[in-house]
Amino acid sequence: MTPSIPLTGRTALITGSTAGIGRAAALLLAEAGAEVIVTGRDISRGNDTVATITRAGGRARFLAADLTDLASLRALAEAAGAVDVLVNNAAVQPLSPAVSQDIDGFDAAIAVNLRAPYFLTAAIAPAMLARGSGSIVNISSMTATTAMAGFSVYTATKAAMEALTRTWAAEFSPSGVRVNAVSPGPTRTEAVLTAVAEALGAGGEAQLGELTLLGRMAEPREIAEVILFLAEDRSSYLTGAVLAADAGRTAA
Ligand SMILES: NC(=O)c1ccc[n+]([C@@H]2O[C@H](COP(=O)([O-])OP(=O)(O)OC[C@H]3O[C@@H](n4cnc5c(N)ncnc54)[C@H](OP(=O)(O)O)[C@@H]3O)[C@@H](O)[C@H]2O)c1
Repeated sequence: MTPSIPLTGRTALITGSTAGIGRAAALLLAEAGAEVIVTGRDISRGNDTVATITRAGGRARFLAADLTDLASLRALAEAAGAVDVLVNNAAVQPLSPAVSQDIDGFDAAIAVNLRAPYFLTAAIAPAMLARGSGSIVNISSMTATTAMAGFSVYTATKAAMEALTRTWAAEFSPSGVRVNAVSPGPTRTEAVLTAVAEALGAGGEAQLGELTLLGRMAEPREIAEVILFLAEDRSSYLTGAVLAADAGRTAA
């Protein structure tokens, strides 16, 4: 029996797909047949993601964009054209106690983590609504619902993404566009592993993993699998949902 290729004929735009979870999602959605639009600021990592996809027989193109810049965001939405799957994944994680958080860092995190997905979705969703189909996947974090000292701006943006997931579902789903979120636990992306090693030293990774019921951090591909599920029609009865991909961290 020929395996089904569930996203054939569909275009997926994944923000922050030059690295980490976004890159893993780009590879997986391309494997599932989607034409993937890879985006981020780093041209060489963007081209590398596209090359990895095309070497494996998939289809992808890179559009550079800086999500702190609204003009760049609008240019990205325009160059992307019709999109069937939008994954709002890019985010930054400023580390600072609330009492000493600087305003520039606050504004930059709000711009990338909240303003960008908001206005990118506002730009992309109308064509989905006109077609009567589409899947929007927002990437949240377990820290939207569990405290993490030092990350107040980040956690606030992630809680906002979960609220937007529900509100956008209410606005878009009567017209056939599903909106869901994935809330990952600690995941072994390069950025997180570097930050953990700096903050906690050599044992940091194990320490973070032990916070979960499976006793380990996730591989980026394990989170990408959940993104793929929400992108595909297999999840056709899900909208307004936040799936915790955190090995039970928020359950226990
Ligand atoms: N890793 C974890 O443990 C974890 C846990 C919970 C939730 N999450 C969430 O999962 C998502 C991915 O996390 P990750 O660990 O994979 O992140 P990452 O490895 O740090 O990658 C972040 C991505 O965002 C892009 N980005 C950052 N600032 C940007 C800007 N101004 N304009 C355009 N793109 C920008 C980066 O691309 P360029 O550098 O090319 O611009 C990169 O591709 C985020 O939403 C994060 O909050 C991660």
